[in-house]
Amino acid sequence: MSWSTRDIVVGNGVQFAPLAGVSDPSVRVLCRFFGAGPTMSEMVSAHGICVKRRYLLTDQLELLEMERPHAVQIVGSDPAIMADVAQLAVEHGADAVNLNFACPARKIVNGGKGSAMMKTPELAGAVMRAVRAAVTAPVSVKIRAGWSASSINAVSFSKLAEDCGMDGVILHPRTREQAFSGKSDWSLIGETVKELSIPVIGNGDIKSADDARRMFEETGCAGVMVGRGALGRPWLFAEIIEGLRGTSFLGPQNHTVPDLSEFAPATLTVAELAAGDVAQRRELIRLQIALSAKVKPDLIVAREVRKHVIWYSRGLPEASQFRAKIHTATDVAGLEALVDSFFG
Ligand SMILES: Cc1cc2nc3c(=O)[nH]c(=O)nc-3n(C[C@H](O)[C@H](O)[C@H](O)COP(=O)(O)O)c2cc1C
Repeated sequence: MSWSTRDIVVGNGVQFAPLAGVSDPSVRVLCRFFGAGPTMSEMVSAHGICVKRRYLLTDQLELLEMERPHAVQIVGSDPAIMADVAQLAVEHGADAVNLNFACPARKIVNGGKGSAMMKTPELAGAVMRAVRAAVTAPVSVKIRAGWSASSINAVSFSKLAEDCGMDGVILHPRTREQAFSGKSDWSLIGETVKELSIPVIGNGDIKSADDARRMFEETGCAGVMVGRGALGRPWLFAEIIEGLRGTSFLGPQNHTVPDLSEFAPATLTVAELAAGDVAQRRELIRLQIALSAKVKPDLIVAREVRKHVIWYSRGLPEASQFRAKIHTATDVAGLEALVDSFFG
């Protein structure tokens, strides 16, 4: 399929956020199944891939064919290394590259990477220009409001990104100092939209269809990106899309919705999933296990799906006792047995 840059960077305007340790291909495909647009990998360390042994780390670049268009997100501060890894990601199948200038984690910012790059726009500019020159695929950036309350620079940084040939900006308007506390300042998304001609995707604190619609209305953003609100609730994307139907906010759906009928014998319905229907949630978990098994070995599947199972159990009776038990499941058979007993 051939997509325009906008199809790849914005798509239908409803995206699932990159979440380290969470948003693996199986979860991304589920979000896509419920209508999310272009997907993005969790951040991949450019230095780790380039300087350490590549083949050990390329599993982080893994994607399922059915989640295209898909961007690989890279984090780093060395222009040559970032350019090299951007190229590697595209060779490995990525349809786009995203540069992470947003991560607040100490181990990342201490190395001058992630959101620390917002303090060094000159270096960030060199990274953006090097990556731009290295790949023809669309390149976007993900940024924060700035480093601290006294150094908010999302607007000027976004303009720099545009000048460096970036194809889009994803803005999570919290400072690095805030990490994930407090509220994201959506007014900054609106200010950025006004100054840019490339698309701006707003991110932060969307937990419902109403929130998504409000972000579009208040900021004029081209798209919204949803992270924590979709944990254990991938059907939130269907709710958001339903809430936007008939509005100009919802962009054309230029991707294929994955056909998961071979994995999911039962029909999944959003209303029943949202209402806590245990049989539906069990089917969804089985589906996630089957998708995860397409790219990962059994033990890893069990370990990774476990935390999602905990999220899927939220709000259900006796969920806390179940959560205490779930860690004993170390392989898929054990996990499925426990899931069947709780969601049976
Ligand atoms: C567990 C976790 C992991 C995250 N990993 C990444 C990441 O790898 N790359 C990235 O750009 N942002 C990452 N983020 C930030 C999210 O993409 C998003 O910007 C943030 O959670 C705000 O959106 P939300 O309120 O919809 O969750 C992570 C957030 C969380 C909670």
